[in-house]
Amino acid sequence: MLPRVVVLISGRGSNLAALLAAQLPIHFAAVISNKADAGGLELARQAGIPTEVIDHRAFEDRAQFDQALMQHIDHYLQASPDSTDPRDQGLVILAGFMRIFSSAFTEHYSGRMVNIHPSLLPALTGLHTHQRALDAGIKIHGCSVHVVTAELDHGPILAQAAVPVLPDDDESSLAARVLKQEHQLYPRVVRAWAEGHLKISSHGPFTWIHSQHSEHFLQNPATEH
Ligand code: GRF
Repeated sequence: MLPRVVVLISGRGSNLAALLAAQLPIHFAAVISNKADAGGLELARQAGIPTEVIDHRAFEDRAQFDQALMQHIDHYLQASPDSTDPRDQGLVILAGFMRIFSSAFTEHYSGRMVNIHPSLLPALTGLHTHQRALDAGIKIHGCSVHVVTAELDHGPILAQAAVPVLPDDDESSLAARVLKQEHQLYPRVVRAWAEGHLKISSHGPFTWIHSQHSEHFLQNPATEH
């Protein structure tokens, strides 16, 4: 049986598209969005993947939204409590999901939730990373795939891709260069997890990562225009 994943999105879903196109040995159990107009939902429907919209505005507070989201995800992941293979717990893949989680949520998915962030973490956590990279005069920018923990954009880093910041860059040209790398990096990490080359487990505040072929987790493309 293929390991199950649930992908959470809020927007256009280009990372979701890259994951779908990569023909990974995973079962896309569902794509869930907090926004009904997220473009990625249509991509999922076209691929025959169940979709759900859980609008955070319909809930009184973060805790209640997170609780509802958790119930839906768990329904799709169908994690088996007896299995010794961590892949049987499934993976929650954040692909442009624009919500901050409660610690109850991150704890529940500890060691089985990953995110892609458009910067070379730990630099430039949060929003507007490309403009902030330009404003700071950074010469090397990129993206990171990391394990999600309670602190926003601070979980253990699994893989990174670097891109140059070119003198005539603006926010959109830099974002496009990074996004191209995201679309290669995320499928690569998810494939490694699915094939058992990347093992993540968390106990309390400690996350243990074991990766074979770790050279695959650094993308450093040639300077390009
Ligand atoms: C990406 O830049 C990703 O790094 C960030 O949100 C954006 C999502 O883009 N977390 P898309 O919806 O996958 O096209």
